[in-house]
Amino acid sequence: MATESKTEVGSYFISNYPPFSQWSAEALDDVRAALHAPPLSPPGSSEPAPLGLYLHIPFCRKRCKFCYFRVYTDKRAEDVETYVSALAHEIELVSKLEVMGGRPFRFVYFGGGTPSFLSGKQLTKLVDRLRANINWDHAEEVTFECEPGTLSEPKVATLRELGVTRLSLGVENFSDAVLEENGRAHLSPEVYKAWDWIRAAGFPNVNIDLIAGMVGETWDNWKDCIKKTIALDPNSVTIYQMELPFNTVYSKDILGNQIETPVADWPLKRAWVKYAFDELAAAGYSVSSAYTMVKDKSKVNFSYRDNLWHGSDLLATGVASFGHASGVHYQNEPDWAGYVGRLEQGELPLYRGMKPTPHQLLVREMILQLKTGRLEVDYFRRKFGVDILEHWRSEFQQHADDELLSFNDREVTLTRKGLLRVDGMLPAFFEPEHRGVRYT
Ligand SMILES: C[S@@+](CC[C@H](N)C(=O)[O-])C[C@H]1O[C@@H](n2cnc3c(N)ncnc32)[C@H](O)[C@@H]1O
Ligand code: SF4
Repeated sequence: MATESKTEVGSYFISNYPPFSQWSAEALDDVRAALHAPPLSPPGSSEPAPLGLYLHIPFCRKRCKFCYFRVYTDKRAEDVETYVSALAHEIELVSKLEVMGGRPFRFVYFGGGTPSFLSGKQLTKLVDRLRANINWDHAEEVTFECEPGTLSEPKVATLRELGVTRLSLGVENFSDAVLEENGRAHLSPEVYKAWDWIRAAGFPNVNIDLIAGMVGETWDNWKDCIKKTIALDPNSVTIYQMELPFNTVYSKDILGNQIETPVADWPLKRAWVKYAFDELAAAGYSVSSAYTMVKDKSKVNFSYRDNLWHGSDLLATGVASFGHASGVHYQNEPDWAGYVGRLEQGELPLYRGMKPTPHQLLVREMILQLKTGRLEVDYFRRKFGVDILEHWRSEFQQHADDELLSFNDREVTLTRKGLLRVDGMLPAFFEPEHRGVRYT
């Protein structure tokens, strides 16, 4: 097996630009200037950008051995209470920022960790406190991430009452042996129990997350997982290819004990995603991005993803959250003590940031939109005054020669081969100084 096809330790998934490793505390003056001024209109527009809100709930029942998110598994009820109070206080501060500019929240995202770790009572209390300062009655999408084993029938009903429109369920796999091996807290019967409650509550949009390449995965089991996923008939299915960033349990084991990676190689993971996309397509789903298939494109909108990938503002709340306002990136304090402590002092818990150049904002939007499988050339001409095909002629040509995409004057379209390895295609568009740097 060629070394470069192995799943080595290191980040692969690209969610922003410039890389997070390039952000720093020195840029915090730029962040504060952006937050404490009315919203800037993006290039080529006379209107401020759409506004979104991200709330990070960092608790989990157990740490999955592959997970790289900032999560806590050892917190007691008082700690959760402390965190929820800090978050509510942060939202109060955020709601008074000038950058809000009277804009309603177009989309809201409760992400994790595991937002559904909160009890129904804690959730209602949190939302009541949030509603004292903000509202999302006019939001076109309110997403809430759930781990199956944390749900109960009343909690699911509460989520719907609180205005959640899109519930995303971390199923990951249907084999109990695979789930257990990878350190998941839930087993498959909990998925089926939760599914009945979710269907009964009537969310407009329900998504299932799967991972291709969990430790112990086999062709037979993966085929069974896809069959079971299709039988549940979710509105969308998101499939990640398993990666091993530096801080996962598996990565530490590989590096510390110098063992062979236990994760399938990239060609096999891509073959699994290809199989899943083909089966989902045969069941009536269509490609919405390199990771997601949707059942009915006219009913399911991805407000969070699509707005963010078109340069919207996103106010970040919660420990370690990432935000973007008036063209400036920022991240909150990544540690509990720093996050809670700064809020106790009445301050926003800003940690580091970066003010990208106009060219870097163009790169960011282009690589993010490439993940949808399609770029509209005119969009970039209108917004940034740049002909992307001219500017990156040799990069697009190289990708075309490698059969990863095709292009004409109007659009760039990824092939299926390109879609399956899109994250690997993106660094070609980075500025030279960002190509070799660590991503996170
Ligand atoms: C915040 S979690 C979703 C909610 C909840 N915490 C859960 O896991 O059920 C987001 C998703 O990231 C994906 N994920 C986490 N670690 C990953 C890794 N190392 N490689 C690929 N996908 C990963 C999983 O599919 C997971 O559902
Ligand atoms: S994958 Fe989800 S449940 Fe597992 S540790 Fe990460 S955030 Fe928590």
